Parts: sequence; C-alpha cells; structure tokens
Amino acid sequence: MYPEDRTIRRFLSTAPFSKSLVEQIRKLHPYSMLSDEEVYFLDNFCWSLPDPVRVAELGAYIGGTTSIFGAGTPSGSQIEVYDLFEHNPASRSRLKDDPLFEENSFFPIWERNTKRYRDKLIIRRGDVLETAKQSREPLDVLYIDIVKHPSLINVMLEFYQRLKVGGILMHQDYFHWQSPWIVYQMEHLLDHFDLIGDVGLNMTVYRKKREIPAENVDFLSFDIEQVTSLFDKAIARYGHSKAGMLRVSKLRLIIGTDKKREAELVKEVEETHGESPRVMRYLNELKKLDPARMW
Ligand SMILES: C[S@@+](CC[C@H](N)C(=O)[O-])C[C@H]1O[C@@H](n2cnc3c(N)ncnc32)[C@H](O)[C@@H]1O
Repeated sequence: MYPEDRTIRRFLSTAPFSKSLVEQIRKLHPYSMLSDEEVYFLDNFCWSLPDPVRVAELGAYIGGTTSIFGAGTPSGSQIEVYDLFEHNPASRSRLKDDPLFEENSFFPIWERNTKRYRDKLIIRRGDVLETAKQSREPLDVLYIDIVKHPSLINVMLEFYQRLKVGGILMHQDYFHWQSPWIVYQMEHLLDHFDLIGDVGLNMTVYRKKREIPAENVDFLSFDIEQVTSLFDKAIARYGHSKAGMLRVSKLRLIIGTDKKREAELVKEVEETHGESPRVMRYLNELKKLDPARMW
C-alpha cells in the first residue's frame, strides 16, 4: 500500500535533479537508444518495483536498457538479456572508435557498459530463436526491442506465455515501421492483455490479464485481409502522428502484395499526415531502405 523505502530514497536522491532527471540518468549510462520520455518512464518503472523481479530484455544492443533495468530493479532481481551481440553495418561504423571495438561483435562493449549490474544479469547470447529455449521461469517483466524481422514474431508467443498474469509487457518499437508484425500480433492477443498506455511515440505498455494457451500460432500465415483488419483496429485507437506511423507500418506489410492498395495507402498517408514531419520521414525511409537489413 505504501511506497517502499527504496522508492522514497530514489525520489529523495533525484529531487535535486528534478529539472534534468533524464540528463542525470543518462550520465550514469549514456548508451541508450531510447528517447528522453522512455528513459524517464523505464527508470521510474524499475525504481517503483517493490520486490525482486525476473525480467526478460529482448534486444540489448550496447546496454542502454540493460543498465536502466540493472540500476533500478530491486536487489535480487534477475534480468535475462537476449542479443546476438553482432554488428550490422551501421553499428560497426558507429562504434569503430570505441577502445573495445571488435570487427564482428559488440559484446565487450555491452559487457563494459553493464558490469556494475553483473550480479543481476543472465546472458542469453545468440539468435533468440535458439536462446528462447534456455529459460522457462515465469517472468514479471517482458521488454521487447528485437522484432525487426518477420522471423522473430512467432517466438514472441513463448515469452508472452512465460509472463505471469499481472506482469508487465513493453513493446519498445510498437509505432515504428520496422516492427509491423507486433501491431497485428498484439491486436490478435488483446483478450490476454490490457493496453495501459504509450510513451515517447514509440513504446506501448500492457498488463497481462489472462493466460495464453500453450499452443503455437503462425502469425506469418495470416492473410493480408486479416492483417489489414487487425491493423485498422489499432490505427482507430490513435490520432495524429501515432495513427500516421501505424499506417506507414501497415504499408510495409502491403508493399509487394497489392499495387492498388499500396498506392491508396501511400496517398492516404500523404494526404492525412503530410503535416507530420515524423510520419513523412518514416514514409521516406520505408520507400528508400531495404527493410530486410534493418534492426
Ligand atoms: C534496437 S536494438 C536494442 C536497443 C536497446 N534496447 C536500447 O535501447 O539500448 C535491437 C537489438 O536486437 C538484436 N537482435 C536482432 N535480431 C536478433 C536475433 N535474431 N537474436 C538476438 N538478438 C537480435 C540486435 O543485435 C540489437 O542489439
């Protein structure tokens, strides 16, 4: 009923930085890819947990989010960290001047950045399609920032099934066109989750409300009508930029399936969201890039 001592201590120790709390958090671990709002939310979320938790962090990169979980979760918490720890071209170029740079792996950099939280971390290094099988314990918190390729969507169900009823799920890139499969998957599963809210034009946050049957669902076998109808339910929930970003995300799944529908959706995005620089940027990125190489 009352906040724990550690939560009160946290508020006391951060009060002097009330005007620049995120700046202070970033000084402690300056590696995060998250926006200021997301850093603020995730840090506060972790510090307000009263008891040790088991977390699965899917997609750690060089430890920005690992550090927030490591610093804020109560002592005795366990954090399963899933990542390939292998560069893509953008990462190789971004990190090339780091003293611990290696040609193929950024694992040494993640290790250095997170070493003060080492006692909480359970490393699951490799393809999550394989490493997902290495833990079966129920989860309190599930953080997902890894589904940038269709091959990863079905395995998410195993993590949702491990999450306890009452546990918290965060989808870091829900609104981004790199993760369109998440949008219709979550819509399909909405009997099992309450959507609590969203933050930073990226992340959605859910509480699991009902167990999910231990069966496999092939989310890649959904036909385009099913995908479109689930997407449209998600889009209807939001206005302005968020609806526009979801329309761009839906476009990613329509490209290559139906030229007429694709042209209509591009027109709809341009006409409805032409004023939103972010939506227009996403649309241009999607037109230019080969989505298969992204994460
Ligand atoms: C956007 S980054 C995560 C960023 C991190 N959450 C943060 O904010 O600091 C996505 C990560 O997913 C990892 N990843 C992509 N595909 C993977 C796979 N099949 N198995 C394991 N990790 C994968 C990449 O190596 C990358 O580090």
